[in-house]
Amino acid sequence: MPSYIVGNWKMQLSDQDSSALAKEVARLWSAQAASRPQVRAVVCPSHLALRAVGEVLRGTNVALGAQDCFWEEKGAFTGEVSPKALKELGCEYCIVGHSERRQYLGETDEMANRKILALLKQGLTPILCVGETREERDAGRRDAVVIGQVRAALKDVALVGTQRLIVAYEPRWAIGTGMPCSPDDAASMHQLINDTLAEMFAPDVAERQIAVVYGGSVDPKNIASYLAVPIIQGALIGGASLKAPDFAAMCEAASEPAK
Ligand code: 13P
Repeated sequence: MPSYIVGNWKMQLSDQDSSALAKEVARLWSAQAASRPQVRAVVCPSHLALRAVGEVLRGTNVALGAQDCFWEEKGAFTGEVSPKALKELGCEYCIVGHSERRQYLGETDEMANRKILALLKQGLTPILCVGETREERDAGRRDAVVIGQVRAALKDVALVGTQRLIVAYEPRWAIGTGMPCSPDDAASMHQLINDTLAEMFAPDVAERQIAVVYGGSVDPKNIASYLAVPIIQGALIGGASLKAPDFAAMCEAASEPAK
């Protein structure tokens, strides 16, 4: 299983800026990536920029991901984008259930579940985001919230053949705040997620086909402290993924011998 370093560009860049950033990321990382197959670099631009960024990344060692999708293949669903359309644009990954979508757009675990099933059907790898709010943590509900999200979003999900899944533990209070969850704290949540996955999937499937990564104020300075924890299998990065040298440096950190 590689270490996944995933950049979530959110709604931060224009079409042109997205292409320029992708070019720079591919240039910086491609020089090293061939000798570092244990790292999988993925960038997730806005839907608007997927085609242009996909063209820039074709033939490079940086994979393309989307930030969201709908669960139907086709039809009268104004404003939505299907996993099939994402696949046609070259996407291999898609974020699902990000906390910003849960907070601002009412995305639920049930919706995330439908999206995951639809993505797997098209051969894309879902990146399921889970994580508690500050209030839930303070009320002692952290574990119950995260276990509940994992169980509901992965209901009836079976990974067959080479299908893969990534679960990102992203505590909401750590996103975009510059106040990351400590590596020890993240490690205990990863263990809890792994235990939940082990109950839901066959042990070899959970181990070989599902990666659990951390997200929330990860940057080039602190990433090594997360990746030093063996059960943290990568990072989902927002703000710090918008600078190509920083993103390349974080990919490099994931290729250190300890991983
Ligand atoms: P930041 O890295 O900016 O905290 O964002 C994390 C995130 O939401 C990635 O999906």
